[in-house]
Amino acid sequence: MRCIVTGAAGFIGSSLSDALLADGHEVVGIDCFVDYYPREMKERNLEQARAHERFTFVEQNLLNADLDNLLEGADWIFHQAAQAGVRASWGGSFSIYTDNNVLATQMLLEAAKREPASKTLKKFVYASSSSVYGSAEVLPTTESVLPCPVSPYGVSKLAAEHLASLYDKEFNVPTMSLRYFTVFGPRQRPDMAFHRFIKAGLNGEPITVYGDGEQSRDFTFIADIVKANMRAAEVDARGEVLNIGGGSRVTLNETISVIEDVLGRKLNIDRQNRQYGDARHTGADTSRAKQVLDFAPNYPLKDGLAAEARWLEAVGSSAAPRK
Ligand SMILES: NC(=O)c1ccc[n+]([C@@H]2O[C@H](COP(=O)([O-])OP(=O)(O)OC[C@H]3O[C@@H](n4cnc5c(N)ncnc54)[C@H](O)[C@@H]3O)[C@@H](O)[C@H]2O)c1
Repeated sequence: MRCIVTGAAGFIGSSLSDALLADGHEVVGIDCFVDYYPREMKERNLEQARAHERFTFVEQNLLNADLDNLLEGADWIFHQAAQAGVRASWGGSFSIYTDNNVLATQMLLEAAKREPASKTLKKFVYASSSSVYGSAEVLPTTESVLPCPVSPYGVSKLAAEHLASLYDKEFNVPTMSLRYFTVFGPRQRPDMAFHRFIKAGLNGEPITVYGDGEQSRDFTFIADIVKANMRAAEVDARGEVLNIGGGSRVTLNETISVIEDVLGRKLNIDRQNRQYGDARHTGADTSRAKQVLDFAPNYPLKDGLAAEARWLEAVGSSAAPRK
């Protein structure tokens, strides 16, 4: 299949590109290296794919790319590009989120709807997020629970998800939205908690924990996210919105113990106030994904954290995300 992966230099987009190439597909990766974290980390993410003859990299911003040309002959589109980050989405930065998350998705859907893309396109998979739920009152949360984001980022991801469903219904673009629950593993973004904790642990530095640490998340290993994307493209079903979670809800304090176990040393914890926009708990009910995609998470938290620690040890990290 000819696959388009947007956000191909990012954590999830690069991992997905590698897996698609390994499965024999052709991949066109698009990314404009937004400066949320250092370009050098994204270049490293791309190294494996760039070495592959079936991979083409296009350094362009979706907002001003020639999308008709890029999407010509595409069978599957995996739309991973977005401005990530919950905490940075407040205040004056919001237009970065509306541009990269809402407007860019709408432009991609418009291009998918018209020729030449519409002649060949079989699936448009959109990377949605558990952040659409906010602090859901029902745990684990099913897709039918009314979304209620608690951050501007979550609002932007939900708006784009609704656009995907609309283009499916009204214009026959075959979409599928996957609501990822906190993803971790090798190549995890440097602003994310596990990356920061493991890196600090390796360097003997203190870690900052916001809130009491009793907030819980359904952590999902990257290989499970990649598998869900590939299944979403392969199956005939479309127009679905599905939770993709790791299968168990764990508190931040519990994950810190697991990281200490993996690293074989105690972490020095600096506790700070809860940050605006942080959901209290997230937990995925993945029964619908099981039904539609035959998806079930495969990777226990400890194994995934050990894989992330090995990766960080091997590459180090020069991470300094924008505040
Ligand atoms: N990582 C998670 O835990 C998580 C959870 C839920 C949802 N998601 C979603 O998954 C997707 C991938 O997240 P990630 O963690 O890999 O983030 P990431 O920041 O590592 O990757 C996103 C990539 O998109 C690129 N990008 C952004 N705007 C662009 C534009 N206008 N044109 C071209 N490229 C652009 C960035 O340069 C970046 O490399 C995002 O849509 C995110 O909202 C991630």
